This record gives sequence, C-alpha cells and structure tokens, in this order.
Amino acid sequence: MCGIVGYTGAESAAPVLLRALKRLEYRGYDSAGVATVYAGEVVVRKDAGRVDEINARLKLESMPGTVGIAHTRWATHGAPTAQNAHPHTDCSGRIAIVHNGVIENYLALKKELLDLDHSLASRTDSEVVAHLVEEYLRRGEQLEQAFRKALQRLEGSYAVALVSSLSPEKILAARREAPLIIGAGKGFNMVASDITALIEMTKEMVFLHDGDMAVLTGSGYRILRIDTGEVVERPVKVVELTVEMAEKQGYPHFMLKEIFEQPETLRNSLRLQIEYVDLLAELLDRGRTVFLIGAGTSYNACVAGSYLFSQIARLPTLPVIASEFIPNYGASIGVDTVILAVSQSGETADVLSALEYARMRACTILGITNTVGSTLTRVSRAYVLQNSGPEIGVAATKTFTSQVLVLAKIALRLARLRGKIAQYEIDEFNSWLERVPQTVAEALTMVNEPVRRLAERIAESRVVFILGRGVSYSTALEGRLKIMELSYIPCITYPAGESKHGPISVIEGGVPVIFVAPPDEYRKQNIGSIMEMKARGAYTVVVGDASDQELKQLADYYIEMPKIHPLLSPTTYTIPFQLLAYYTALAKGHDPDKPRNLAKSITVP
Ligand code: F6R
Repeated sequence: MCGIVGYTGAESAAPVLLRALKRLEYRGYDSAGVATVYAGEVVVRKDAGRVDEINARLKLESMPGTVGIAHTRWATHGAPTAQNAHPHTDCSGRIAIVHNGVIENYLALKKELLDLDHSLASRTDSEVVAHLVEEYLRRGEQLEQAFRKALQRLEGSYAVALVSSLSPEKILAARREAPLIIGAGKGFNMVASDITALIEMTKEMVFLHDGDMAVLTGSGYRILRIDTGEVVERPVKVVELTVEMAEKQGYPHFMLKEIFEQPETLRNSLRLQIEYVDLLAELLDRGRTVFLIGAGTSYNACVAGSYLFSQIARLPTLPVIASEFIPNYGASIGVDTVILAVSQSGETADVLSALEYARMRACTILGITNTVGSTLTRVSRAYVLQNSGPEIGVAATKTFTSQVLVLAKIALRLARLRGKIAQYEIDEFNSWLERVPQTVAEALTMVNEPVRRLAERIAESRVVFILGRGVSYSTALEGRLKIMELSYIPCITYPAGESKHGPISVIEGGVPVIFVAPPDEYRKQNIGSIMEMKARGAYTVVVGDASDQELKQLADYYIEMPKIHPLLSPTTYTIPFQLLAYYTALAKGHDPDKPRNLAKSITVP
C-alpha cells in the first residue's frame, strides 16, 4: 500500500525522488523518507507526515548523492511515526531499504535477528529485510547474493528497493505479489511501485514479474530470478502517458479533474480491442457458473455487470465481494467455473488471493483492469484494459464509469454470441452505448450546480439514505461508497423494496433519502417508495430524467438527468453522487483527494 521509488544516474537523486514521491502519495501518506548514498555513506532523512511537510522540515530535496531510494507509507505494521517511517537501515548503517507489502514471517525473523545481536529500531515488518541482508554479509556473502538470500527467507508480499555504501552506484530491487517497475532512461535508471512515479523521467518501462530481482546502475540493469539466480529478459514497453495526464490540469483537486474527464475516458474505454472483448465473451459463455468479483467500487461495477449480463446477454452471473469469494464459494468451484475479476489497479490483494485459489482449482480467470502489466493481467487467461488513464484521487470515479461501460460492451458481444435477444434490440442498445460519453458530458453540465447546492444540506446530515431498484441498486451502492469515504457521513443503501423490511424505522424528520430513479420499469414502485419516505418526514431527493414532471413534483429536491438507456444509467446517474461526495467533503473541510484511513491500492489482505 506504500509507494516506493529509486533513482541511480548522473543527476542529484533527491529532487527526482521527491517529485516521484509526490505522485506516489496516493498510495499512502502517513510518513515518508529518502535515503541517498554519498561520500561512502548512506544518508537517511524521514519523518511522520506528508511529503511536502517533511521536505519543509528536513530539506529532503537538498540531500546529496546521485543514487537514492524513497518511500511514502500507508501504515500496516507499526504506527505512523518517524521511527516506523522508511527507509530502514541495518545495524551498521551501510544498508537502507524501502518496502511495500507485508512480511508475514517478520516476527520469527525478528526473533532470529535479535538472537544474532541485531538491534531493530522500528515496529515494522519491513526493517527485518535490512538486517537479514546485513546478516548474510556478516556470513561472507557479497551484497547482491546477500540480498537474494534475504529475499528467499521472506514470506508474504514485497516490492523492495535497497541502496548500500558497499555498492554506491547500485540499487537492488525485487518484487513478489506487489507491483514494481523499472523506468529505463538515458544515463539513469529508476524503479518504482507504479508508472506515475516514472513518466516524468522516461516512457520506457520494464514490468518485473513475481520472483524477479533487479540490479540497477546509471548505465544499465540486470534482472534475475530470486530463487535460482538465473538472468532473465523482460520486454521494454513504451508507455504513452504524458506528465500532464497525471497532473491536475487546472482543477483544484485530482478528484474533480477526474470526474470532469469522464467523457474523454469513456471514449477511450469504448476503443477496446474487440478481439479481446470477443474472447472474453466466448470464455464467459462456456462457464457453467460465472462469478464477477471485485472490491469496493470495482465490486459495485460487478453488481451493475450482473444486471447487464442477465438482461442483455441472458447470462446469469454472481457478483461477489472479493474477500468473501473463498469463504462463500471456494468449496464449490471447479473446471467449469469462470471468474471475471474487475480491479482498477489489478493489484488488490483480496482479488488476487481469490484468483490464486481459483487458479489452483482450474477455473477460467478473466480480467478487466486499468493497469498495464498488473498482476491481474498476468494471472488472467484473457483480459481487457479499460483505458481510463491513471487515477490519482484515492476515491475511484472515472474508473467506475469505464468499468461499467466495458462490462456493457462485453454483455453486448455476449448477447450477439448467444443469440437470445433480437438484432434490433442489440442495435438499439449499441447506439445508446456509443452515446454514453456524450450523455455523461451533458450530465456534468446539468448537475454540477444543483449538486453543489445540495451538498450544503447533505453536509449537515448525520445519516443519508441512497436507494435504487434494479441496476440502479449498483448506482446507489457506488453513491453510498463515494459519500461515506469522502464526507465520513454514514450512508445506508439497499434495494429500495427492502425499506419496509426494517430500515425505514431509522427515518425521522429531515433525514435525506436520495432515490436513483431513471425512467425504467420500476418508476411506479419508486413513486410508492418516495411517498412512503415523505410520509415519515424524510427529505426526499430524486435523481431522475429531466422530463419526468411527476417525480419532479413529488421530490423535495430534484436532480435532472439526460436521457439514457436505463441499463446503462450507472455510467451517468453516478455522476451526481461523485460530485455530491466531492462538494460535501469540501463543505466539511476534508481533502477529497486523500480521505482519511484510505489508500489507492490495497495490496494487503
Ligand atoms: C473506492 C475505491 C476502492 C477501490 C477498491 C478496489 O473509491 O477506490 O473501494 O475500488 O479498493 O480497488 P481496485 O479496483 O484497484 O481493485
């Protein structure tokens, strides 16, 4: 969950590392630090807090040396203190490491190291790596070999980078179940947890595989397998992202920029390589049982997907929260099970462990992800890239709408393949689908101001209800997640028909109840539910079609939406909720880009 980066070359390392750290902050921002090698010594500066604050205090930017590593942390083991901040050093101070992941056997390793007279300064799992390397050095190994031997002792997940005064020009790095990429430059080389940290410096990237270790200098790099030491080649990929793409482009926050760039990202998502979509459709069609798995927002997209697959392609599927997949379905899956995993990062630990389990049982694994070279792309039999571009805001926005659109596109290909709906229906749905980017652009213009006003009211609320029926249940789920994670206001969501089975007892005067009510076959039932809530004094907000006069009359506050095929409505009806979450967070004085206690990529189980 942390971000790591390393630089070796001719330039001063610290300024490069600092700029990269800023871009990695979305992976965690509890503490940060830098280690450089200079005049035969390892220099470390680190503290609790955000990169800018620490830089102002400790002048990270002016650290000397042309080789260095840096880290921004999202605490897993040990509180977010200066002591627990990375880089961590060995007893001699000749080795510094940064680590992302979880060393599962660190307690056993720590005990062993303490018995061997190492003294450990932090409460992290990561620090053992530096001391293990030191231990193998003590036993006579050279640095590279000592690093490799240390890695062989680790259980769990890691992306790790090391610098040492013993090899002042080198960075050693390795990965297992956590992403790590080499950025290959002219006269320098870098390594980082993701592309965003590298694109300012180079477009040439090498995606390391699980079990790879790399040795970088300013003039080249070598990749070898941790277990055998065998040297391996990995292809260089040219990643066509500009630095601007990863920056705010004039918006006050990444989240707002990402909300407003959805017409463009959705257009990119429609440019899928159709042969992969077809392959996915074919493989989905062969399954006896089909699961859609994801976590958080990606799970909400899976819920939308299950309605799309059922209603467009007549294929029943089960949406499952990734962490519940093994407990609930693990015992019943096998060779005729197909799993379509949806994950923006392609690195979410809960998703990957479900897939690993399913792979061992010969299930077919398919993926939708936003991340080229991610672990999901490697474990999938076939995958499609959603093409949303990097998402820096911690809360997912543009990646959700793209995921739903990609799922709709797959559903449509499946419908063709299965021949269960008429050609005219397919054509009609297709033309709605192709228009989604335009519809989203209209929605952004229509809802921004009304939602900004509504946010003032919502910011005063102690609880918010968000209800929907049919595919709008997925919109409600995503609306709830956005508002909760950014405004910290508890939200209640369930399919609207459930009110009378219990939750309505929470309703009292003034409680906001937001209905997601596109013009679909549930309109009448929605009207019934709105009346039910109004009768109990709720403040009813309805998100519905601009032309629906009856709903407009009924609601205390109405958000007008453009026309869209109801089954595609999650792509568009989610927009007011994204904006509502954003403006409510601002009204409450929260940073919408960095919600408390959260990180962008959850690479620990
Ligand atoms: C919420 C959010 C998270 C992620 C979840 C899964 O706004 O961003 O809930 O959706 O952690 O992440 P991915 O899609 O990378 O697997």
